[in-house]
Amino acid sequence: MCGIVGYIGHQPAAPILVEGLTRLEYRGYDSAGLAVLGSRGTTAVRRVGRVRELQAALPSRLTGKVGIGHTRWATHGPAVEQNAHPHRSGDGRISVVHNGIIDNAATLRTQLAQDGVTLLSDTDTEVIAHLIARSEAETLEEAVLDALSRITGTYALAVLDERHPDRIVLARSGSPLIIGIGDKEMLVASDVAALVRHTNQVVHLDDGELATVTPAGYRTFDRGNSPTTREPVEISVAAEDLELSGYPHYMLKEIHEQPEAAAMVLRGRLDERFATARLDGLGLEPRELRGFRRVKILGCGSAYYVGQLGAQLIEDLARIPADAEAASEFRYRKPIIEPDTLYVAVSQSGETADTAFAVEEIKRKGGRVIGLVNVVGSTIARTVDGGVYLHAGPEISVASTKALTNMSLAFALLALHLGRLHDLSHADGDRILRGLQRIPEQLEEMLSRAAEIEPLAREIAKARSAFYIGRVHGYPVAREGAQKLKEISYIHAEAYPTSELKHGPLALIDEEMPTIAIIPDDELAERNLAAAEQVLARRGPLVAITHASVGLGHLDARTILVPKNEPELDPILLTIPTQLLAYQVAVLLGHDVDKPRNLAKSVTVE
Ligand code: G6P
Repeated sequence: MCGIVGYIGHQPAAPILVEGLTRLEYRGYDSAGLAVLGSRGTTAVRRVGRVRELQAALPSRLTGKVGIGHTRWATHGPAVEQNAHPHRSGDGRISVVHNGIIDNAATLRTQLAQDGVTLLSDTDTEVIAHLIARSEAETLEEAVLDALSRITGTYALAVLDERHPDRIVLARSGSPLIIGIGDKEMLVASDVAALVRHTNQVVHLDDGELATVTPAGYRTFDRGNSPTTREPVEISVAAEDLELSGYPHYMLKEIHEQPEAAAMVLRGRLDERFATARLDGLGLEPRELRGFRRVKILGCGSAYYVGQLGAQLIEDLARIPADAEAASEFRYRKPIIEPDTLYVAVSQSGETADTAFAVEEIKRKGGRVIGLVNVVGSTIARTVDGGVYLHAGPEISVASTKALTNMSLAFALLALHLGRLHDLSHADGDRILRGLQRIPEQLEEMLSRAAEIEPLAREIAKARSAFYIGRVHGYPVAREGAQKLKEISYIHAEAYPTSELKHGPLALIDEEMPTIAIIPDDELAERNLAAAEQVLARRGPLVAITHASVGLGHLDARTILVPKNEPELDPILLTIPTQLLAYQVAVLLGHDVDKPRNLAKSVTVE
């Protein structure tokens, strides 16, 4: 989704801005632009399409040492050049890049038009540039504060002013913004990915906070123009983590990083002596944890499906009623926030607006909410009362893989921890703990057999539509599997509980409608096999993701065998073939695997 970069220092800004924008490409965008302030005023260039097209359009002599850049993901108005950022005041003096949505933009546009301002774009952002330019305040900071007092909505803003070429002014409310500290130079970005080449010292702005950035340093202040204190923190992301390292796509790289990522989320968190998990970041005492009567998990997209898997783990191991809900719906249905419910927000990016708003709503009403988040220092990670970092490392591909696996593992740790504070026996705790310890190795083993999926991928690639079916533990796996296929191969896929097949979707089964069935070796295996036979009887092609011990030998089905773990943990491994299958199908169909059409890595608007 939209990305912001900024630079002020002793080097020409344009190449640094372009490089930063390239680093943000993975988030998804449809146009890009930048503005550089030099001795002869502002040069602004915008282009629809990729950052490289913007780069090609830049004038050769662009020597200004201060600038801002942006990748846009259309919300207000189509992806055309005049809607791309930066937006500028009528006289060109003020340039603004913005992430987020200004809710009262329509009213402000009408007012500005009545005042004789010519609006050149369809965007909400343009009004900010005009409001700043029209402020009579002396300093840029005050002019920005003036403008902010008239707008409602969410924003991360970076502002350039020809009258004050020595600074960039920033403001944040509901959309992330980070300052990167260099040597006599400062960077700005909405995502650390754009900063890691230059510095590992960053400052995360808080909601409601503003900052002035100059080559020599930064100063933060609040909406009342009083100084705030914000110390730099060190980030641990290395530039190599963001490279392809020989893989054709980030998605494949990230799939293969799973054994290592899984080891990272488990590291130091398994307590063999007490057969439990150690989760120091939760910020909740055992007494408090024992007091929760219910667990409610909130996430969006794939994180929501993993949340369903997490809810099952918690019910299985801790015997506490648990369920997952799409965070995007939760906030709007007047949810009852209960003091004895533990709320869990789950998010790779920690920036998904729907999830972040749900967290705020829970907190406003006094609920306790923890986060399972990958990106350290992200909005959700900073808002929750405590949590478990996923430690999956940076994830670039829009389709999430390693972060999802680590979400499931973090849920398993949470479930084990809660379980051992409730009824889970030492023996069962130990069984789960040993199961978790086996996972990195089992992931390794599965990934070494990735090529076996290729013939299946060739068949699925011919389909127009596919079913994914699973029961109980297999159902969230089916949902996530269908989501992956849809997202990157654009083949329509739907997930059903296997038991529901006969209540409707069976009508669609024929030779051209493949079914991917999740059939773990559990107490439902027989019933799952019976459903598989019903599909085959209607000549539906069947792919079973299963365990060797289930034995499908008598059926005319293709099988993908997954190593067996404990029944509660099996769904984590059963998900892996669905990632590989979706990936290989998308490659065969020639799609842009890492940047599927119309999708963004983190959706920072509602
Ligand atoms: C977007 C992405 C999905 C992702 C969801 C939640 O919709 O396209 O792939 O699952 O956001 O993202 P999060 O960062 O909160 O896990």
